[in-house]
Amino acid sequence: MRREHLLPRPEDTRALGAALAAVVGPGDLLVLTGPLGAGKTALTQGLGAGLGVSEPVTSPTFVIARVHRGGRLPLVHVDAYRLGSGADVDDLDLDASAEESVTVVEWGAGLVEQLADEHLEVRLDRREDDVRTAVLVPRGPGWERRLEG
Ligand SMILES: Nc1ncnc2c1ncn2[C@@H]1O[C@H](COP(=O)(O)OP(=O)(O)O)[C@@H](O)[C@H]1O
Ligand SMILES: [Mg+2]
Repeated sequence: MRREHLLPRPEDTRALGAALAAVVGPGDLLVLTGPLGAGKTALTQGLGAGLGVSEPVTSPTFVIARVHRGGRLPLVHVDAYRLGSGADVDDLDLDASAEESVTVVEWGAGLVEQLADEHLEVRLDRREDDVRTAVLVPRGPGWERRLEG
């Protein structure tokens, strides 16, 4: 899988999420970074669609986290924006275990990396011309190998 992506349209961002859905497995952690409007939720929507989740994946800002079932794996979608640095995603008491799910965290950099031995960092950005970009940064040998495949 390519590491750097130009994402001119929202559907390009969703397509990248769908491509990631094909390579994720139980216990995986994806940490999405980037400013407001960069496409973190859009990417998660594509991931959900790729997993086969049928309900809409919307921003969990006001609930911090949602579990979407009905797809190949449960999708745990976390918005860590209002989680304090001491808070732990485990404290959210989600009715899905991280080991059986794929967990995607918006605004989670520096907060949630310890949830898994390794993770994929997805750096989303919004250029001055409004084109979105993504860089996939494997954080661990397993992700390194998977992106090479
Ligand atoms: N290439 C693109 N990728 C993703 N979103 C885009 C793109 N171009 C425009 N947009 C718009 O930008 C917004 C991205 O919102 P969202 O995915 O919620 O961002 P974030 O979760 O990072 O704050 C949406 O309104 C979407 O329609
Ligand atoms: Mg969002």
